Amino acid sequence: MNRISLTQYLVEKQREKGLIPGELRLLLEVVARACKRISYAVGKGALAGVLGEAGSENVQGESQKKLDVIANETLLEANLWGGHLAAMASEEMDHPHFIPNEYPMGGFLLLFDPLDGSSNIDVNVSIGTIFSVLRLPEGVSEPREEHFLQPGDRQIAAGYAVYGPSTLLVLSVGDGVACFTLERETGSWWLTADHIRIPERTKEFAINASNARHWEPPVRRYIDELLAGGTGPRGRDFNMRWVASMVADVHRIMTRGGVFMYPRDAREPDKPGKLRLLYEANPMSFLVEQAGGAATNGHERILALQPGKLHERVAVFMGSREEVERVTGYHRA
Ligand code: AHG
Ligand code: MN
Ligand code: MN
Repeated sequence: MNRISLTQYLVEKQREKGLIPGELRLLLEVVARACKRISYAVGKGALAGVLGEAGSENVQGESQKKLDVIANETLLEANLWGGHLAAMASEEMDHPHFIPNEYPMGGFLLLFDPLDGSSNIDVNVSIGTIFSVLRLPEGVSEPREEHFLQPGDRQIAAGYAVYGPSTLLVLSVGDGVACFTLERETGSWWLTADHIRIPERTKEFAINASNARHWEPPVRRYIDELLAGGTGPRGRDFNMRWVASMVADVHRIMTRGGVFMYPRDAREPDKPGKLRLLYEANPMSFLVEQAGGAATNGHERILALQPGKLHERVAVFMGSREEVERVTGYHRA
């Protein structure tokens, strides 16, 4: 079998299509290498003592798991010295981490959710890493936190890794979405799906229904209609899945379609949702749009939103186009 490696895929994008600069290729390879390392730690689990609580809290007041901290440090260390980055920001760090003076500074900004699906770590369910790449704005010689506050449309690459039965890396450099599978024995990433397309129609939805009593009326209406099935206004039955790891839920949608929702709700009326705009919603929306799907906050395209702060939250409706358009329409009605 004539396999295409991650390196070969990226070199082709760089050389033949002139799509990505060499520095971005280096950055993506380094991120992939860090994900490989995280995958090994995840795979060893209790044998490596990586499960359980870290005993600390992140800036959002969530208790950190050991793997949240390990994954964050792995990504930081891997990306510090290559000369491709100006700064990194993460779910697990209050403020960005700037490249120290001892290393050369590059032109990119990297954001990540080092370990997505933390509640699934200790129960051996799929978890992952999400990342987003932005350019340091032109003419800036000293990066600051505000330089990360760019609309998702400006991402030049985004991706996620899923640490599941197989370890996968799903990536877009703005030219469609490709999926690579990690061959554990050799540590190589091989292209196993290219030009991924999310079916426009779906019969599957993903939402944490335990929050139903807190939802806003448009979401309640939409879900009620799905639950009514074949004899309801939609005239067909819908199936539900909720892994509670965004990477796993979105990966299922990348593979066979569906709609993923984490709406804002009345539990914390001041917060526009649970998921974070810059390192969860934006990279996932970029991938979903690149695969022909749609992603909104119920009102606007997520990728068009101007972020106001680093750890900003946002409501999320993403996946198969028809369903995202419908539930977004209900917010307008
Ligand atoms: P993280 O582990 O990075 O904090 O993200 C968890 C997120 C997301 O992965 C998932 O879709 C959602 O939280 C699950 O939330 P519930 O526990 O409310 O279902
Ligand atoms: Mn997450
Ligand atoms: Mn996380």
